[in-house]
Amino acid sequence: MKKESGATKSVWVDQVQLPPTEALNENITCDVCIVGAGIAGLTTAYLLSKEGRKVVVLESKNIGGGESSRTTAHLSNALDEQFYNLVKLFGKEGARLACQSHGQAIDKIEEIVGQEDIDCDFTRVDGYLIATTPDEAEKLGQELEALQQIGWQDVIMRKHSPVDTLSTFPCLHYPNQGRFHIMKYLAGLAKAIMENGGRIFTGAHVKEFKSGAVATVVTTHNRSVSANHLVVATNTPVNDRITIHTKQAPYRTYAIGVQVPKDTVPDALYWDMKDPYHYVRLQKDTVGDAANDILIVGGEDHKTGQNHNPAESFRKLEDWTRQKFPMAGQVQYVWSGQVYEPVDGLAYIGRNPGDEDNVYIATGDSGHGMTHGTIAGMLITDLIMERPNPWAKLYDPSRSPLKSVGEYLKENLNVAAQFKDYVTPGEVDDPMQVLPGTGSIMRKGAQKIAVYCDQDGVRHQCSAVCPHMGCVVSWNTVESSWDCPCHGSRFDPFGKVITGPSTADLGKVNQE
Ligand SMILES: Cc1cc2nc3c(=O)[nH]c(=O)nc-3n(C[C@H](O)[C@H](O)[C@H](O)COP(=O)(O)OP(=O)(O)OC[C@H]3O[C@@H](n4cnc5c(N)ncnc54)[C@H](O)[C@@H]3O)c2cc1C
Ligand code: FES
Repeated sequence: MKKESGATKSVWVDQVQLPPTEALNENITCDVCIVGAGIAGLTTAYLLSKEGRKVVVLESKNIGGGESSRTTAHLSNALDEQFYNLVKLFGKEGARLACQSHGQAIDKIEEIVGQEDIDCDFTRVDGYLIATTPDEAEKLGQELEALQQIGWQDVIMRKHSPVDTLSTFPCLHYPNQGRFHIMKYLAGLAKAIMENGGRIFTGAHVKEFKSGAVATVVTTHNRSVSANHLVVATNTPVNDRITIHTKQAPYRTYAIGVQVPKDTVPDALYWDMKDPYHYVRLQKDTVGDAANDILIVGGEDHKTGQNHNPAESFRKLEDWTRQKFPMAGQVQYVWSGQVYEPVDGLAYIGRNPGDEDNVYIATGDSGHGMTHGTIAGMLITDLIMERPNPWAKLYDPSRSPLKSVGEYLKENLNVAAQFKDYVTPGEVDDPMQVLPGTGSIMRKGAQKIAVYCDQDGVRHQCSAVCPHMGCVVSWNTVESSWDCPCHGSRFDPFGKVITGPSTADLGKVNQE
């Protein structure tokens, strides 16, 4: 079948030489099997390999081939959820531990970069949370008070951010945040894992998970890996069918990389307080451009599969950028990606609920996947090494969602509402109405069919019903993918799974 993907590419991907990996051609046993080679999986593999454990990493695509290569790589413990909310949800001690864990995650990245000599542009920079209305300015006051309650004393309210054009209202100034080049970092982690005796297999898509005293996973090529411990670091857990997916929701988020003349924007992280919010950073020292830096601007989030004009999101992001950063030049990169928003703002890291004790998950990163992924590495390593960890309870995936019952109900009612698609008409009545390079949903009797027309005008059809729990997918015009509006599974134009929770492809069309 002709391979065709209109997926966007982020600023990071062409700049890095990844270390060679292996193909899984035999059944193997090991101590710890880790599924997923993003920041969560590779950090866990690295830290365990340093402890002398025999680790094996299985990855469907390439190192960093999931959301990690789509990040904007802010490193921050100024959490999106805001600490005045976290104090309400987890108490002062819980909020303090959340702040501490993300701060220590940045320290851990800095330590690994130093120990392994990874050249990944890691830089400590300050962060600014910027109000643009009187209401937002008042919320800044609330946030500052919460930060002082949990003992973060060196955050300061300032009259203006260092970029005059951003706002005339005050901002909070957070010291000691960070930024890095994620793909250079992951390449360095992977190299170190292999030097420590670990093995990394790419092109190894796991289709089956069997729990037990020894856990076994089976790939689509029918090769198996058996291990004493299994870590599922697939961004959203593909081994957990329901529980976790009711406690987090998939959102698409958009990013652009725009040229700005060197030294016109101070090197810092900037976040506004809109819903969805904008997040901004610099990538300095860009390859082959002595005159410019790249300003990376993100935002315009919406629930996956529930926006029929994602291209408009890039336009809005560019308009916002030009308004707030008048020095912005040519747009060099545009890309989108997916984040999982936990209903209470913190990731789910630890033992998989309702499973054997030797199966672990890391998910629900929100916009803090770089630090949540690093926390996952530290926390799961401690669980496997049978050491106490101060953050284990806070991030326990079994914790009740009822502390945030409003958000929990809102997201699950939204999922229930998607089942209306079973009774709605199709977007087209005939495959010939689908234009080259696009996809549309067609009704045929009781079935909903996903029709894709390739660039040569050939129509490809598969079932539009998501194998996870049966919602009807929709066409993503920006990424040329079929996206499920319920829990975020994504499929390529021909129905091959790209992102879980589904591990299976879209089915064949029933011949009625
Ligand atoms: C546009 C954008 C901007 C962001 N900005 C920031 C930011 O500034 N700061 C921040 O901290 N976070 C940010 N994030 C979030 C962050 O990028 C992610 O949360 C993080 O990369 C997730 O890492 P992960 O290791 O959990 O998942 P991934 O990187 O997605 O890794 C999971 C891996 O598992 C593999 N996999 C999946 N299923 C299987 C299977 N069945 N078998 C084998 N392998 C499988 C996938 O191919 C993938 O490579 C951003 C995200 C986006 C999209
Ligand atoms: S991802 Fe759950 S139904 Fe599609």
